[in-house]
Amino acid sequence: MSAPLKIALAGLGTVGVGTLELLTAQAGLLERRCGRPLEVTAVSSRDRGRDRGVDLSPYLWFDDAVEMAAISDADVIVELIGGSDGPAKALTEAAIRAGRHVVTANKAMIALHGPELGAAADEAGVALCYEAAVAGAVPVIRAIREGLAANRISRLHGILNGTCNYILTTMRETGRDFDDVLAEAQKLGYAEADPSFDIDGIDTAHKLAILASLAFGTQIDFDDTFVEGIRRISADDIAFASELGYRIKLLGTAQLSDGGIQLRVHPAMVPLDVPIAAVEGVLNAVECESDFAGTTMLEGRGAGAGPTASAVVGDLIDIALGRTTPVYGIPVSALATLPVVPMDAHVGPYYVRLMVYDKPGVFADVAAILRDHEISMEAVLQRSRSTTEPVPVVLKTHEARESAVTDALAAIGRLAAVSEPPHMIRIEPFGAG
Ligand SMILES: NC(=O)c1ccc[n+]([C@@H]2O[C@H](COP(=O)([O-])OP(=O)(O)OC[C@H]3O[C@@H](n4cnc5c(N)ncnc54)[C@H](OP(=O)(O)O)[C@@H]3O)[C@@H](O)[C@H]2O)c1
Repeated sequence: MSAPLKIALAGLGTVGVGTLELLTAQAGLLERRCGRPLEVTAVSSRDRGRDRGVDLSPYLWFDDAVEMAAISDADVIVELIGGSDGPAKALTEAAIRAGRHVVTANKAMIALHGPELGAAADEAGVALCYEAAVAGAVPVIRAIREGLAANRISRLHGILNGTCNYILTTMRETGRDFDDVLAEAQKLGYAEADPSFDIDGIDTAHKLAILASLAFGTQIDFDDTFVEGIRRISADDIAFASELGYRIKLLGTAQLSDGGIQLRVHPAMVPLDVPIAAVEGVLNAVECESDFAGTTMLEGRGAGAGPTASAVVGDLIDIALGRTTPVYGIPVSALATLPVVPMDAHVGPYYVRLMVYDKPGVFADVAAILRDHEISMEAVLQRSRSTTEPVPVVLKTHEARESAVTDALAAIGRLAAVSEPPHMIRIEPFGAG
């Protein structure tokens, strides 16, 4: 039997404790699969006195995680603190400097600093593994970097945030409104007390940036991603979507075209017959379109102690077996820098919900504005009538350019009979070029 792989673990929260539990529960299986034991030698967290429900006595305790990364008796440092900068980044840098491999679940850090950390890891000849950073238990990093490495990937879509998918699914199943379902999700522990990172799309955008770097072999400037969250989705939108044959999902989409790459995170209408439309509740999924493999979809649990620990330990197994690859599949120095296609240039069909006072001539005014912006309508839906209250009216457009739709909606919003700013949701053209 070979020498154990020695592991020092920083951050004993949900994922850190889950990882210790998995390593203990599966010790025999892991030893058989790796041909050597996976042995935790040291741990670090903020509060030494906290009862975490696991026995920490076998491990050397460090108050300072950066010091642990530099001097502990470990081959691998596991970073499970979180945050794009601060101690997580400092300890990752210290570990690389000390010639140790790093495993992390930290999507914010990899999305914002991946190329810089990856270059340092490439130079030091150590692995920087981050399977747990995107879609938890779903092995999407390996699938793109290794499984689909023979292909050119042209587009990928992801449902990458379980909190948002849970909220949208529950809204559809119960007919309740966003605020009500969010409050319940917070009570159940599915949403954070401050949910903005999730519901405003930032978390999805971090994961999308990582997937796009891998899929297209390119450096991603996180600020180039268009990000819109799910706060404005109403119960009416969900009901109209079903009527029109769609599900609303918070999608992260990365697309490669002749003009460059487009990265966008926003609520999208997904046709019901597309497999990703059926991914419900807290589940995550990633769908890739590539030249030889065609369409590939992976689905599973994207968060939680067990699923995330499963991905962390999967990375440890790779390191134990010496099965490591460059951080982005190719050296960081070989990553391309591609032009970014701005969101204004996006072309696709749109769903538009107007709240209007049902007066003669309103539709003629709306139709005239759309015509002036060269937008043609495919369908109009109105479910209720009232002479006193505004009622929702839904338009579905044919393909239009985002800049034209934005301008037209601003003009429509100024009509006296329109009671609030129009709400637009992009319809995702699955299958189209
Ligand atoms: N939770 C999930 O389902 C999930 C899924 C995928 C990825 N992730 C990622 O995994 C990472 C960890 O997430 P989590 O949910 O486990 O977070 P968490 O429950 O908040 O745990 C974070 C841990 O980091 C420790 N910590 C904070 N500052 C520290 C410092 N300076 N030195 C050492 N330890 C420090 C905290 O210590 P104390 O406990 O002592 O205060 C805590 O134990 C994040 O990057 C997150 O994005 C999480």
